[in-house]
Amino acid sequence: MQLKVEKLTHIYSEGLPFESLAMTDVSFTMEQGEFAALIGHTGSGKSTLIQHINGLLKPTSGHVYLDGVDVNEKSPEARALRRRIGLVFQYPEYQLFEETVLKDVCFGPKNLGLSEEEAEEVSREALALVGITGEKLERSPFNLSGGEKRRVAIAGVLAMDPELLILDEPTAGLDPRGHAEILDAVRRIREKKNMSIIMVSHNMDDVASLADRVLVLEDGRLIMDGSPREIFARGEELRAIGLEIPSAKDFMEKLAKMPALKEKGLEIDDGAITIDEAQEEILKLFGSKA
Ligand SMILES: Nc1ncnc2c1ncn2[C@@H]1O[C@H](COP(=O)(O)OP(=O)(O)O)[C@@H](O)[C@H]1O
Ligand SMILES: [Mg+2]
Repeated sequence: MQLKVEKLTHIYSEGLPFESLAMTDVSFTMEQGEFAALIGHTGSGKSTLIQHINGLLKPTSGHVYLDGVDVNEKSPEARALRRRIGLVFQYPEYQLFEETVLKDVCFGPKNLGLSEEEAEEVSREALALVGITGEKLERSPFNLSGGEKRRVAIAGVLAMDPELLILDEPTAGLDPRGHAEILDAVRRIREKKNMSIIMVSHNMDDVASLADRVLVLEDGRLIMDGSPREIFARGEELRAIGLEIPSAKDFMEKLAKMPALKEKGLEIDDGAITIDEAQEEILKLFGSKA
């Protein structure tokens, strides 16, 4: 589906003494199949923005359209479209509640009207996609590792077969292994499902390796929108708003500035944003192939 956000402004507690302007005049369009990363400092409005996409928050002004229909319309059509949005909140594992992993994931599809059998089938598939299989399906979700719990929660949303999957900081607070497993899961979802994805992230290495578009929020405004290469070429501006650039890009920029290289007459392109791209560029220096 196509997502169109138009001049979205949001004021929390409007009219009250503690009202706060969280989003100002944000506009962008996303086509089916895109993978966008949403980045920005804490408090920049990332969570506020994504909660407008399924109508959980209402714009103070502006609109959100799904396939041309305003999500906040009170029509059956708008309601059906809102259901096509799969929103995975931050720390979604706190919302697990059923006796077993499989039952927990089945809850959503059953609510959508699927039979017990159908619900189990789509739930097993969703769990496999996030790497949860075998006896783990019959375990209590509370007896899993932090990363596993989080993947079960993601499967719960996947099982409802959304067209647009939104993940709010899906790796927050996980150890390196839990983090890597979430990324693998996101990669598999990307490969196997024709879903659009919006991922909120603070990890620029993840953004560089996964996204094909980056949206940058600062103080409730969308200040950049482009490919990862375009956005990460603007390191100075990103640092000024408290954001990093991918570690590979940082390394290549430092390498390109080394006097020793210049003295030898070696030119290096510092545009690489992933380890793979950096490796390719460095091998070029040696005149060899990977
Ligand atoms: N429920 C709320 N009530 C009032 N202000 C809020 C609420 N939620 C968020 N805010 C404020 O809105 C701004 C954006 O917050 P948020 O969307 O959570 O940012 P992010 O997800 O990028 O950290 C912040 O200034 C935050 O304090
Ligand atoms: Mg947030």
